[in-house]
Amino acid sequence: MNDVLILAIESSCDETSAAVIKNGCEQLSNVVASQVKSHMRFGGVVPEIASRHHVEQITQVIDEALVDANVTMHDIDAVAVTEGPGLVGALLIGITAAKALAFAHNKPLIPVNHMAGHIYASQLQEPLQFPLMALLVSGGHTELVYMPEDNVFNIIGETRDDAVGEAYDKVGRILNLSYPGGKAIDELAHKGQDTMNLPRAMIKEDNFDFSFSGLKSAVINAVHNAKQKGDTIEPENLAASFQASVIDTLVHKTVKAIQTYPVKQFVLAGGVAANKGLRHTLQKTLNEQFPNIPLTIPPFQLCGDNAAMIGAAAYSVYQRGHFAQLDLNASPGLSLGEDE
Ligand code: KG4
Ligand code: ZN
Repeated sequence: MNDVLILAIESSCDETSAAVIKNGCEQLSNVVASQVKSHMRFGGVVPEIASRHHVEQITQVIDEALVDANVTMHDIDAVAVTEGPGLVGALLIGITAAKALAFAHNKPLIPVNHMAGHIYASQLQEPLQFPLMALLVSGGHTELVYMPEDNVFNIIGETRDDAVGEAYDKVGRILNLSYPGGKAIDELAHKGQDTMNLPRAMIKEDNFDFSFSGLKSAVINAVHNAKQKGDTIEPENLAASFQASVIDTLVHKTVKAIQTYPVKQFVLAGGVAANKGLRHTLQKTLNEQFPNIPLTIPPFQLCGDNAAMIGAAAYSVYQRGHFAQLDLNASPGLSLGEDE
């Protein structure tokens, strides 16, 4: 079979990205323009600012991805783009660029679910084996996803309230860390001890769901109580206690999911997959308890949002011939499995 080259575009949140991916597994280029500095002073992503940056960056980022891969649009077999979930205005910039390229160069257009992209980021490292279980942890999602086969997604558990990345960023704000707080808390946590015994919500419940809003409130209350009493809580210990609670809960439900489903491979994915504590504990636990089930975690640069993962996920959609028409619209609330 001939090689398939996909030009992929991602603009769902605050990174403008384009990549060229060969056969869903080989990264020829991956250009990521991050806007994080522009949103930092607001303590979160401002949708209008995100859209404006995407408009400014998109053409240049796509050109750079083609140049880096040493190809032209003539060599490209299909154009893939994130259709959702994400910010509607941000998604539309990538979708409009993808549609314009697909139309002008007469190439098929592939709609990709952003969360599927996070899972398939691992395919850039090694082939995925099905049935597969994935733990998706990002700024907007916390989900356990069972994939009986390629491109089929069953969400078996999810957060009932805050996503884990969202909880990290809120606790980061309480600790006066700059946005997004996840990475900084991870670093602080390694210098402290789990002294606070924070709640492990839903850990004993017989399901695969999560809840992180109670943990966030427990952190806020602990900080307020300490302030009122004139006590000090070491930020390192607060970060370590918060992170220990998050990791305990995520790993506990992961083990339960692997015990329940016939899993051949486990994938950790999403921005929070960059968390060193989570990577380490999950690796150690799975090695001990399921030595025959390989765990794949993308390298740090592919955990956050990027177009390479969209190109990897697009390959199986391409093989199934699931193309979009030029009336493709953004789906800000798209769920995994919904777009099949
Ligand atoms: O996947 P992502 O880049 O964007 C979404 O699709 O949401 O995830 C971003 C999230 C942010 O909440 C950020 O704080 C978190 O990932 N994050 C981390 C770490 N690095 C990024 N959370 C915990 N530890 C980290 N090292
Ligand atoms: Zn993401």
